[in-house]
Amino acid sequence: MQGKFITFEGGEGTGKSTQIKLLAEYIKQKGKNTIITKEPGGTEVGQEIRRLLVCGDKDKFDALAEALLYFADRHVHLVQKIWPEIAKGTWVLSDRFADSTMAYQYYGYNKRLSKKIIKDLYKIAVGNFEPDLTIVLDLDPKIGLARSFNKAKTMDVKELRFEKRELEFHNNMRKGFLMIAKQEPKRCAVLDANKTIEELHSDIVKVVQERLGL
Ligand SMILES: Nc1ncnc2c1ncn2[C@@H]1O[C@H](COP(=O)(O)OP(=O)(O)OP(=O)(O)O)[C@@H](O)[C@H]1O
Ligand SMILES: [Mg+2]
Repeated sequence: MQGKFITFEGGEGTGKSTQIKLLAEYIKQKGKNTIITKEPGGTEVGQEIRRLLVCGDKDKFDALAEALLYFADRHVHLVQKIWPEIAKGTWVLSDRFADSTMAYQYYGYNKRLSKKIIKDLYKIAVGNFEPDLTIVLDLDPKIGLARSFNKAKTMDVKELRFEKRELEFHNNMRKGFLMIAKQEPKRCAVLDANKTIEELHSDIVKVVQERLGL
């Protein structure tokens, strides 16, 4: 039997990486094979693309170059990992996927790039495939960014290229995620991330039970 594909989306420091681990434990308890993966950087070659995208000067290239790199990473990720795992019956959980490209490179940069370019790139790199469920963690960027900068103090490699962008970018991007979820309510569930880790986890489990019957 085919597995499932669940994506976690939302701004910096909204709790994606924390919550994805907790959901993986829940899914395992339910007797399903599951893996956690991430974008960018879910494969070996993706790790190299990730470094280009998330480290260094915030203006080192433009939104189009970013979108192209994200979709290159995504295509390799699908072909080498996501699709083969789903075919084996695995529940694949991805820390970010294509909604992040729309939210950051389109909404974040205040529509500097056309939406059509991102949709066309999706068709080319991903095709008709889409997540079975997308959890959008919604949080005031002021709170999320404070969490991210705090976490970065303990990291060797500082992945703060996007965190360095102005608050307006992050507010636009947050609105973008909400717009996407509004346009695709069957696939997306928006959850208030301004809760304790345990509360948010139980909200996520509720959504997975309701939408995917697990
Ligand atoms: N509900 C919460 N309340 C308070 N702090 C939290 C909560 N969830 C996560 N954190 C803390 O906030 C920081 C960011 O969380 P996490 O890494 O899960 O977010 P993220 O969405 O993956 O961030 P990034 O976009 O930077 O990858 C971590 O230090 C984490 O321990
Ligand atoms: Mg994370």
